[in-house]
Amino acid sequence: MHLPRYDPSRTYRWNYDHAPAPVEVEVPDCPGEWSFCGCRVGSPLGVPAGPLLNGDWVLYYASLGFDVLTYKTVRSSARECYPLPNLQPVATDQLSGGHPTLPTTPKMQGSWAVSYGMPSATPDVWRADVERTRDTLDRSKLLSVSVVGTIEDGWSLEDLAADYARCAKWAVESGADVVETNFSCPNVSTCDGQLYQQPEDAAVVAETVRQAVGDVPYLAKIGHVTSPDDADELVEALRPFVTGLAMTNSVAAVVEHSDGTTMFDGQPRGICGDATRHASVTQTRLFRNRGAARDAALELVGVGGASSADHVRDYLDAGASAVHVATAAMVDPLVAVRIRADLAANVTPSPT
Ligand SMILES: Cc1cc2nc3c(=O)[nH]c(=O)nc-3n(C[C@H](O)[C@H](O)[C@H](O)COP(=O)(O)O)c2cc1C
Repeated sequence: MHLPRYDPSRTYRWNYDHAPAPVEVEVPDCPGEWSFCGCRVGSPLGVPAGPLLNGDWVLYYASLGFDVLTYKTVRSSARECYPLPNLQPVATDQLSGGHPTLPTTPKMQGSWAVSYGMPSATPDVWRADVERTRDTLDRSKLLSVSVVGTIEDGWSLEDLAADYARCAKWAVESGADVVETNFSCPNVSTCDGQLYQQPEDAAVVAETVRQAVGDVPYLAKIGHVTSPDDADELVEALRPFVTGLAMTNSVAAVVEHSDGTTMFDGQPRGICGDATRHASVTQTRLFRNRGAARDAALELVGVGGASSADHVRDYLDAGASAVHVATAAMVDPLVAVRIRADLAANVTPSPT
């Protein structure tokens, strides 16, 4: 079956305005009992912040076997998208960090550089859209809304925290079941994109957001972390305030054409898709094995390169309680249906 999908050759705006309608496909039940941030759900599968540009995209992917739908990161004011290309396929093996330079490739081979700059509709537009979406979405599914603060000249950290919190509160007032703060977008150069590397500052933001959202489940989305000490510091800083951590946003790399010229003015971009899977599964295991994360019972959401039931199992074995799929879901909208069918066909028999 050929289903409509995001068109990378067209602008963000075009894709925003051309969301497909929900489809009727048979979605196999996922064996086992699953919860997300304390709420019962039908599977461990979700879509992270990115592919779901607005409520219509949320409803489309909800019809395709995903149980947790994350609304693409929104802001307290409108923001334009970076120019095309927003999705540049790259040729690469599994990435481990260290800012490599990667060659472009004309055809998608599983991984791409993502370059959007976190565009956002105005708050009145996204708030109304979130409300309508939650009203329309089946009650068995969860709607998470990703937010980011928008730093302005002269702002203090407290101002930035208040901006994150304002968006989070609006999301909750509009009906979000879960809120997520993006602490990790590598495609913007301001500090709002890199808070996960500044645990003390991230804690100030997370505390302010927690105060704004009350006891609503709250996730922090973080970037690539490889050092146990960095993981400990981040967990210690965030654990009083967050329900869980979603990782890994992407792995940063510079992208160059075959003639040696760099793309994106030589600035790194987040590589998403298959090439980030090993790094992200390793990171999930690292965080799960840190004492502080265990003590705080932090939920870990595995994100990065998942496209099969085996990948889902790898994440769950590493300590994730949910697995969210962006790139593979954009390339193949039926990916969750396939994963669910495979999980159902290969249920591990329980010991008698
Ligand atoms: C088209 C696209 C847009 C994205 N936009 C966001 C975003 O707005 N906020 C965010 O936190 N992550 C964003 N991401 C990152 C994804 O949430 C996810 O961390 C990343 O794609 C890794 O998952 P994947 O390998 O399954 O694609 C985006 C990813 C893609 C592919």
